[in-house]
Amino acid sequence: MKMAMIVAMDEDGCIGHQGDLPWRLKSDMQRFKSLTEADGFNAVIMGRKTWDSLPDSFRPLPERINIVMSRDINWTHDEAEVALYHGRAIEIAYAEGCDECWVIGGAQIYEMFIDRVEEIHVTTVHTSGSGDVEFPEWNRSEWMETVVEKLDADADNAHATTYSIWTKA
Ligand SMILES: NC(=O)c1ccc[n+]([C@@H]2O[C@H](COP(=O)([O-])OP(=O)(O)OC[C@H]3O[C@@H](n4cnc5c(N)ncnc54)[C@H](OP(=O)(O)O)[C@@H]3O)[C@@H](O)[C@H]2O)c1
Repeated sequence: MKMAMIVAMDEDGCIGHQGDLPWRLKSDMQRFKSLTEADGFNAVIMGRKTWDSLPDSFRPLPERINIVMSRDINWTHDEAEVALYHGRAIEIAYAEGCDECWVIGGAQIYEMFIDRVEEIHVTTVHTSGSGDVEFPEWNRSEWMETVVEKLDADADNAHATTYSIWTKA
C-alpha cells in the first residue's frame, strides 16, 4: 500500500485559517479529488479538526475510506473509521485492502505521519501570511522536488500555484 501526503501551503507554510482553508482554489480541489480517489480503492487519514471543517456535502469524502484520528474514545461517526493512534490508522487502511493511503491533514496529523510517507504532494500557494496553522518543520534537503504544474491566478483560483511532488532523496 502506497502512503502519501497531500497539502496546500502558502510561501510561509500556512495551511489553515480559523479552522478552515485560507483560500478557495478550484484547481487544487480538483487535483485533491482526482489524486486521492484515483481509480483504485483508497483511504484518507485526517485529524478530527479537519473532519469537522469539511462541509456536510463532502463529509465523508466520497469513494474513499475516511479514517479520522482522535484521542476521544467516545468519538464515533457512522461514515468514518476512528483511529486513536497512528498505527491503528494504517492498520485500518491495510485491513480494508486499500491501494493508496493519503494523509490529508491538518498540521497535527501531518507531523505524525511525515516520516511514514513515500511522497508529499505540495501545492505552493503564491501568497503569504494566510493563516494561523502551519505545516510542521520538515527537512527538505532529505527530499527531492519534481515540479509538475504551475498555474496562474484566475477567476476560480485566487492565487497562482505550483504543484510539486517530493520524494525521499
Ligand atoms: N491546506 C491544507 O492542505 C489543509 C489540509 C487539511 C487541513 N487544513 C487545515 O488545518 C487546520 C486543522 O489542523 P489542526 O492541526 O488544527 O488539526 P487536525 O490535525 O486536523 O486535527 C487535530 C486533532 O487530531 C487528533 N489527534 C492529534 N494527535 C493525535 C494522536 N496522536 N492520536 C490520536 N488523535 C490525535 C485530535 O483530535 P481530538 O481533539 O478529537 O482528540 C486533535 O484535536 C484547519 O484550518 C484545516 O482547514 C489544511
